[in-house]
Formats: sequence, structure tokens, C-alpha cells
Amino acid sequence: MHFTGVGFALLIGIVSAGFAGGVELKDVLSEVKEGDTVTGREIYVNTCIRCHGIDGKGAQGIKLVPPPADLSSPAVQGRLDGTLFKRIHEGKPNTAMGAWKHSLSDDEIWDVLAYVRTLGAGSDVQP
Ligand code: HEC
Repeated sequence: MHFTGVGFALLIGIVSAGFAGGVELKDVLSEVKEGDTVTGREIYVNTCIRCHGIDGKGAQGIKLVPPPADLSSPAVQGRLDGTLFKRIHEGKPNTAMGAWKHSLSDDEIWDVLAYVRTLGAGSDVQP
């Protein structure tokens, strides 16, 4: 699986960096929070696509004020994982972006966020 390969290579990198710094392997592994893009895609299709569209650029024919954020844009992709996690978790008051913490677990939010990362223009991950 392509995603897993990338994730694994990343993990090895982090783990070896951790060893260089004298950090225990178990400590490093407990810090790694990598969402699963396959589960994330399922969640995205079921819950986010109707506003954000299949490519993250916004669904066709939807008229919201303000409009859904373009999830593939550098503005969104440039944000830290923690920032995006919080936006999905808490939503944004006075917009159509609801707080997903009521219907998605933290793990599910990490998964859908991992999928949102694949929508970025600079991403080399194929859909
Ligand atoms: C009912 C429509 C709707 C649905 C469903 C929806 N969103 Fe949104 N989303 C919005 C709107 C509108 C905004 C823009 C809010 C603003 O103006 O900042 C937004 C903003 C966001 C942002 C913030 C982007 C930024 O500016 O940093 C993220 C991330 C996001 N949505 C992810 C998701 C994910 C993931 C899901 C599915 C779990 C989802 N959205 C479902 C309407 C929606």
C-alpha cells in the first residue's frame, strides 16, 4: 500500500532521529499520531464531500456564506495539523462548518485530516 510505505519511511526517520537523541523507542511511538487515509477517505466521502467537494475545492452548486474553505489550497494546507484538527473538532462559529467532535472520535478526526492532506496540490500521494 502506497500510503503505508510513505508512513513507514517517515516513522523510521522519526524513530532513528529519536534514537540519535537518546529517546526511548516506546516514547517516540506513542507520540506518532498518523491518521489512516483509507478510513479518512470514507469519513470524508460520507460527511465532508457535500460541502467541500470531491477534490476539496468546494461542492458544485452549493451556496454558503461564507463558502466552504478550499481544503486543497496552500492557505489551508499550510496550517499545522493541530490547527486543522481543532477546526474540524470545534468547527467555526457562524459558518456552516460544524463541530465534528460530537459525531467523530479523535482518531476519526486524525484519519479524515490525513485524507485532507492528500488533497493538497503539492502532495505526491495519488487519489
Ligand atoms: C455543511 C457544510 C460543511 C461540511 C459538511 C463540512 N464543512 Fe468544513 N467548512 C465549511 C465551511 C463553510 C468552512 C469555512 C469556514 C470559514 O469561513 O472559515 C469550512 C472550513 C473547514 C476547515 C478550515 C479550513 C481553514 O480555513 O483552515 C477545515 C479543515 C474543514 N472545513 C474540514 C472539514 C472536514 C474534515 C469535514 C468533514 C468531517 C467538513 N469540513 C465538513 C463547511 C462544511
